[in-house]
Amino acid sequence: MPHLFAPLPLGPLPLANRIVVAPMCQYACADDGCANDWHVQHWGMLAQSGAGLLLTEATAVLPEGRISWADLGLYDDACEAAFAQALAGVRRWSPLPVGVQLAHAGRKASTHRPWEQGGRAIAPDAAHGWRTQAPSALGYAPDDPTPQALDAAGIARVVRAFADAARRAARLGLEVIELHAAHGYLLHQFLSPLSNQRTDGYGGPLEQRMRLLLEVFDAVRAAVPEAMPVGVRISATDWVDGGWDLPQSIALAKVLDARGCAYIHVSSGGLHPAQQIAPGPGYQLPFAAAIRREVAMPVIGVGLITTPEQAEAALAQGQADAIALARAAVEPALAVARRRRAGRAGGCLAALPARVAARIAAHAAARGRRQRRLTRNATVPSATAGAAP
Ligand SMILES: Cc1cc2nc3c(=O)[nH]c(=O)nc-3n(C[C@H](O)[C@H](O)[C@H](O)COP(=O)(O)O)c2cc1C
Repeated sequence: MPHLFAPLPLGPLPLANRIVVAPMCQYACADDGCANDWHVQHWGMLAQSGAGLLLTEATAVLPEGRISWADLGLYDDACEAAFAQALAGVRRWSPLPVGVQLAHAGRKASTHRPWEQGGRAIAPDAAHGWRTQAPSALGYAPDDPTPQALDAAGIARVVRAFADAARRAARLGLEVIELHAAHGYLLHQFLSPLSNQRTDGYGGPLEQRMRLLLEVFDAVRAAVPEAMPVGVRISATDWVDGGWDLPQSIALAKVLDARGCAYIHVSSGGLHPAQQIAPGPGYQLPFAAAIRREVAMPVIGVGLITTPEQAEAALAQGQADAIALARAAVEPALAVARRRRAGRAGGCLAALPARVAARIAAHAAARGRRQRRLTRNATVPSATAGAAP
């Protein structure tokens, strides 16, 4: 696996190899955005994986930017202290670089946890609910409560919140910041003409729909030390006619590249319930490859990459510079072993050091049950159906 295990410079940060653990929401907080002992275990396990970088779950920059009330946040001192404590437990045993994915869910906020009530939206006046915010007063699903369209002051507050959370991340000693501009959350909502129908300077032509993300990027970049890479995760397409698409993603990637973006992480979908996706192995890699041809920054490919051979081939063919794994990184090693015995392909865990598989196997039964529940309820494309979260 000469490509997969080659080092990769992420801006000023050297990664030991090209495997990235993708962000995965855990919905494991009390209603306070604070990390707890679940995060120590979850991050701790992933930090032993032998990957080159671990990206933590979508971490809200404002309380109303959480997808559900149980989401992780980095919006106040209590969140920062809890994050510091959980991270210390992980750092004690692993030198793996850890990045935080900073996020605001916009109109997709205020939901139940995915395994409760089908993860539906919670009304603003119901327990655990709040009024959501968005570029325009358009809900995600027809029966969702209508979000409040952000005014100029609201937009400025969002930009400040990303920068404040980035400062907290730098104080925590995190190595990387990833801005979540994918999967139909707030920054993506501003990019897509399907969710952004504003008539001011943040809507309309592509340059104006990109404006919020670029303002957030610049504010975050200015808030943290030069040595801290700031990357962006995008959905390369909405998979809906008339929506955000690959040419617009390429245009955005070029602008980000010129502004000093450390990498672009290429996912897709999640903006609109009418999306038509035909998921299959590596189905998002063609988007990563097309963007990679146009930019100098590293490109991370993700999505249904489940075997080391597949990951190695994607890198060898120049489709991406690094490969992110979500489900394959948490799949219990016992399940991988069972599949192998049955003569089916192994998971990417097979590409990681054997001691990792042994550790994971030791905890597989209990954690496997929890992860299977999370994965079933998350709206992540399986090889046969679904949509990105
Ligand atoms: C349980 C779970 C939670 C996820 N949470 C996030 C998240 O917080 N942020 C994000 O950008 N993507 C999230 N995703 C999407 C993954 O990062 C990844 O893009 C997707 O699962 C496809 O990769 P895979 O086929 O390797 O699982 C999540 C996926 C899963 C399975």
